[in-house]
Amino acid sequence: MRKPMVAGNWKMNKTVADAVKLINELLPELQAQTAVDRVVCPPFTALYSVSELLKNSGIGCGAQDLFWEAKGAFTGEIAPDMIAELGEYVIIGHSERRTYFGETDESVNKKVLAALSIGLTPIVCVGETLAENQSGQTETVVTRQIHNGLKGLSTADAEKIIIAYEPVWAIGTGLAATGPQANQVIADYIRKPYAAMYGDVAAQAIRVLYGGSVKGSNAAEFFGQPDIDGALVGGASLKKTDFMEIVNAAA
Ligand code: G3P
Repeated sequence: MRKPMVAGNWKMNKTVADAVKLINELLPELQAQTAVDRVVCPPFTALYSVSELLKNSGIGCGAQDLFWEAKGAFTGEIAPDMIAELGEYVIIGHSERRTYFGETDESVNKKVLAALSIGLTPIVCVGETLAENQSGQTETVVTRQIHNGLKGLSTADAEKIIIAYEPVWAIGTGLAATGPQANQVIADYIRKPYAAMYGDVAAQAIRVLYGGSVKGSNAAEFFGQPDIDGALVGGASLKKTDFMEIVNAAA
């Protein structure tokens, strides 16, 4: 039985003061909801402050990206151990990094292996664009992202990663996929190829989240699906009531 998870991807939002304010607002209710694994992924600048507030709270903390080198002349980048000091999770391969910052399946794979090598749990994002969806390429794109982005994992690691299916056309648009639509992609284009790579046990052990315009009003539609284990939430993670509605719907 996979425990549900709801992770908030704050993206490029919240100063340190705003981040501290939101975490203090969220803490009492988030801490009380232990039936769900709860994760918050603030921007790098607020990661230390948020991780300090979440210490011993039972609520996970993560980054929104990382670099695969351990250290060196990589201006502006953040190394895996710098994140591991502050949190347990890291979002890798988000479509916004693929679209705007040249992220590829190959760089995603390097980042996944680097994250796992230091004990971080990657939340690996896959998903097709509207054009790819409308031209019937969803299976080709998503299975390619799985094959190329997640190759080379150890058996143990293959059972611990988290995948987020985020149809690009549903991100930030208010136009979410339906529960059955998302479940079909996750079952057939994520779990099935993953089973071919790492076996049925691993494919059934990993949690697969849905992301893309999840709100309190539609969350239950996704959480009621057999192959969906939770949500990776963008806009609705930035306000206490919105985020708590989704977290409580996952319980
Ligand atoms: O990573 C989650 C994000 O891409 C979803 O964004 O605003 O549609 O919930 P949003």
